[in-house]
Amino acid sequence: MSASPAKADPYNGLKRLEPTLPRDVYVSADAYQRDLDAIWYRNWLMVCRSADIAEPLAFRVVEIGTQQVLVVRDETGQLRAFHNTCRHRGSQLCQEHEGRLKARLLTCPYHAWSYSLRGDLVRVPSKSLPEGFDRADYPLYKVALSEWRGFVFINLADEPVAGVAETFDAGSVSLANWPLESLVRGHVFQKTMACNWKIFWENFNECLHCPGVHKSLSHLVPIYGRGLMARHDDPEWERHADNDSPEFSGGLRKGAETWSADGRVHGAPFAGLTAADLAAGQSYATHLPSMFVVGHADYVRTVRLRPLGPEETELTAEWLFLPEQMSAPGFDLDNIVSFGMQVLLEDAAICEVNQRGLRSKRHAEGVLMPEEYDLHRFHDWVRGQHAPA
Ligand code: FES
Ligand SMILES: [Fe+2]
Repeated sequence: MSASPAKADPYNGLKRLEPTLPRDVYVSADAYQRDLDAIWYRNWLMVCRSADIAEPLAFRVVEIGTQQVLVVRDETGQLRAFHNTCRHRGSQLCQEHEGRLKARLLTCPYHAWSYSLRGDLVRVPSKSLPEGFDRADYPLYKVALSEWRGFVFINLADEPVAGVAETFDAGSVSLANWPLESLVRGHVFQKTMACNWKIFWENFNECLHCPGVHKSLSHLVPIYGRGLMARHDDPEWERHADNDSPEFSGGLRKGAETWSADGRVHGAPFAGLTAADLAAGQSYATHLPSMFVVGHADYVRTVRLRPLGPEETELTAEWLFLPEQMSAPGFDLDNIVSFGMQVLLEDAAICEVNQRGLRSKRHAEGVLMPEEYDLHRFHDWVRGQHAPA
């Protein structure tokens, strides 16, 4: 969801009749494969926090579509990523999901070729080697890896065209005032949603569903209760241009400080936040196709997606706090988590409802309403990703 534009900006809503994407792209196996090839195998994907692989020799194996990527911290502390595939006859290298290597070598379970954590082939146990064989010709297949403010991203493209920081969604707010690097996980929630990954993003990009689907959220963020995300989503915004109540300006209802069950912060807000950051109530930074981060006054929430099939998507949500905040007296994790969980579960459930209806053979495509301008921008992004280079 975008931040409120300045008052001089025009109306946000769509002015033309726009169709949705065709039904097929949400349900068919072929379309799913095309999404993997054009989008998931070519963009930066957030896979975990740097702190999740904090110690030397710690690793994770992440799976994107059919591709397995081994992310490992080498003995010097540097993070590296490789396809989880041996250069001999292509066996899977690492069979566990996560853990800590016992040695500074990656050894293939099949015929024991060993690689350094830089990916160099260092040991081939054959009695003799064929003429012309040079170990230097068989390093592990590297995968691009980049750290952004405490988050680890990988990219399966041979040569990623731009960096992580440059590829955030245009509607993203800078979270420069939030201490993202220093945050630790207070809670994690994972769920497999029975919907195509694009359905989740479509739902994320509009608040037309908020009054009906999110009663509590609509109470906390009054403009959402009007089915809008920002002041300029209203075709009559000029009539209310001077009305700074949250119903028109966005932000939290009077007296509320954060997204929590009682609307209160439990501990001090982050020290670096400005009055505008605090007034916003929620500040989104979105990185398609795999994640968004939302900064609140006293904590940060991340949502990460992973496609599992045409009609299946894994969602992982994490609630991040400063360590001292979590150990402070009166810290009430449940008060915070229960609110976000309710919103997330409401969204996941309605995404599944959307997906089930999309199976109808009669439904060639849908149509967008003016409030769905960000959703339309998402569709344009998807179409652009599939456009021939
Ligand atoms: S396939 Fe890995 S050593 Fe043979
Ligand atoms: Fe929602």
